[in-house]
Amino acid sequence: MRKTIIAGNWKMNKTATETRDTLKELKELVDGVKDVEVVIGAPFTSLETAVKTVEGSIIKIAAQNIYPKESGAYTGEISPVMLKSIGVEYVILGHSERREYFKETDEFINEKVKSALKNGLRPILCIGESLEERETNKTDEVNSRQLEKGLAGITPEEAKNIVIAYEPIWAIGTGKTATPEMAESTHKEIRKVLAKLFGESVANEMTVQYGGSMNAKNAKELLEMDNIDGGLVGGASLEASTFIEVIKAGVKR
Ligand code: 13P
Repeated sequence: MRKTIIAGNWKMNKTATETRDTLKELKELVDGVKDVEVVIGAPFTSLETAVKTVEGSIIKIAAQNIYPKESGAYTGEISPVMLKSIGVEYVILGHSERREYFKETDEFINEKVKSALKNGLRPILCIGESLEERETNKTDEVNSRQLEKGLAGITPEEAKNIVIAYEPIWAIGTGKTATPEMAESTHKEIRKVLAKLFGESVANEMTVQYGGSMNAKNAKELLEMDNIDGGLVGGASLEASTFIEVIKAGVKR
């Protein structure tokens, strides 16, 4: 059975002190929680504090970006080696905000996926269509392209370490969520593409998260769907008392 992973993407929020306070609270709340993996994607300046604060709990820490080289003259960038060395385990890649604001291409994202895997970080690869693409029936085409290009050159064995996050852009930070049925049908198509790339058995093992205005109220019905194996949560992950409700919805699926 696939692993349920509930991840929070904090984006550009929280100082190191705020990170420590929120994670201390969350650590207590997840005490005793089983059958779900909990991940927090904190900003670079909070990562070391985050890793130390969650020690001894089920919470794992993600970065929100890497540069796909191990070291060198890349002023201002952070390498996967640096992240791995401080205990970071996951990295969120290909988020639509990075695609849009920082002009990241599928090819560049693919380099990052490969570099993360090579250096022992688990990529959470984000894909998803814009409102215009959904309205013109291009959702499956966009997701297939982002998967095929983002995962080019990845072996089935490596794919087992990759998490996919389906995040329809029109649902991010808008309060508009895909209905569970709508999301499930897209997730099924995503899994078909994964099966084409890596074979059915690997595709069935891969966690495919939903992201986009997921919160304490709607998480349960989304996570009840067969092909929705977790969530990538933005706004509703910032407060421990709210995020724990999303986590609990994942436990029961
Ligand atoms: P919201 O949950 O705030 O819509 O953000 C989703 C997201 O972008 C997670 O990566």
